[in-house]
Amino acid sequence: MDKLIIEGGEPLKGEITISGSKNAALPILTACLLATGPVRLTNVPRLRDINTTLKLLNILGCETAFENGVVNAHVRALKHEAPYDLVKTMRASVLCLGPLLGLLGEAKVALPGGCAIGARPVDMHLRALERMGARFILDSGYIHGICGGLIGARIMFDFPTVGGTENLLMAASVAKGCTILENCAREPEVVDLANFLNAMGARIRGAGTSVIEVEGVRSLSGCEYSVMPDRIEAGTYLVAGAITDGELILRGCPTVDLDALITKLREMGVLVESLPDGGVLVRRDGPLTGVDVTTQPHPGFPTDMQAQIMALMCVAHGSGTIQEKIFENRFMHVPELCRMGARISLKDRTAMVRGVDHLVGAPVMASDLRASASLVLAGLVAQGTTEIQRIYHLDRGYERMEEKLSAVGAHIRREHEQG
Ligand code: UD1
Repeated sequence: MDKLIIEGGEPLKGEITISGSKNAALPILTACLLATGPVRLTNVPRLRDINTTLKLLNILGCETAFENGVVNAHVRALKHEAPYDLVKTMRASVLCLGPLLGLLGEAKVALPGGCAIGARPVDMHLRALERMGARFILDSGYIHGICGGLIGARIMFDFPTVGGTENLLMAASVAKGCTILENCAREPEVVDLANFLNAMGARIRGAGTSVIEVEGVRSLSGCEYSVMPDRIEAGTYLVAGAITDGELILRGCPTVDLDALITKLREMGVLVESLPDGGVLVRRDGPLTGVDVTTQPHPGFPTDMQAQIMALMCVAHGSGTIQEKIFENRFMHVPELCRMGARISLKDRTAMVRGVDHLVGAPVMASDLRASASLVLAGLVAQGTTEIQRIYHLDRGYERMEEKLSAVGAHIRREHEQG
């Protein structure tokens, strides 16, 4: 198992280029199942979750080749079963339900994790697909869906679920008639998927707002498409510049999609400035101060940046609070940050962070993707050595993170551990 070793305290200086978005690429790759012709995708990040999705596509009958950020995908003979071995590592696998039901009228996808049908985490996906005529049973850990062709419907999500909105966009694109989706997720990745589907000939209007209209078409063709840049990776490097008191320029940083984060960073005393050449400069603009943050669906503060801004607040003056409103159990980084000297107390879904003069390096354990990123950020500013174990989580979502950070002056290296 690999681990990361970081010697903290180096201000980061230089340029970082932002990779393609993981969370946009995953549904877009899944949507390739809908194409009758070849698809060419560019700006696809080289990540573990992407490789898992490519394997899933292969098993479902879609041939893929991935080289230098380009995926070529071509459906040969679509199959309807996504096996547990693949699905267990990646919740996003459930996104193939929509395309498979839409095209084949049948889909059998292993349930991600051990949750019962109808309960979290995919109940909203299933209820919405049921409104379009699908029927589901739970069969030996698999969600088995069938329908005699999906039919357009009016669907109101209980909560603006990102994956649910994406699943339904794909299903509705090839359904019979018109589908109106209400209370949709407005995340930029939903818009990127809709743009991709439209490039294949879908008729989707309103993506990026809470009401989306989809007029079903008979079939979708192949196309060429470039995946949007990763706003969460960009946000993480904005925090890296600020936390190390460095000066970074990000290339390909989607500032429009990062409004809520940038507003909070500025409140904390961080300068984020768009340069005339398209780069985005980040550095401190004075001492850092604590702020209050509440995660919300887009355009609110992204839950995927919660752990990283917490690391920054750990070394700010004064205190601040972080309220997590999207996921129930997303504070696994808190005890690890505390092992590095952070002062954080937790009550229900709120963390109270009191800034400290400095963090101290320690051996810590990564627990999930964004939690891992927060430990890297803390390690970059901590005195001494931080050893982060279980970094396979990071490899799911950050392309060449230690390479990118080393290139701007971080003392960070990967070690391979037996066992
Ligand atoms: C996506 C992102 C993830 C991000 C999240 C919220 C991808 C691959 N992942 O995840 O990085 O943190 O959006 O911005 O794009 N829920 C249910 N039932 C459902 C669906 C969701 O209870 O049927 C709950 C979830 O457990 C969670 C909340 O709703 O508490 C939001 O989930 P959702 O927006 O669907 O997130 P994902 O699409 O899984």
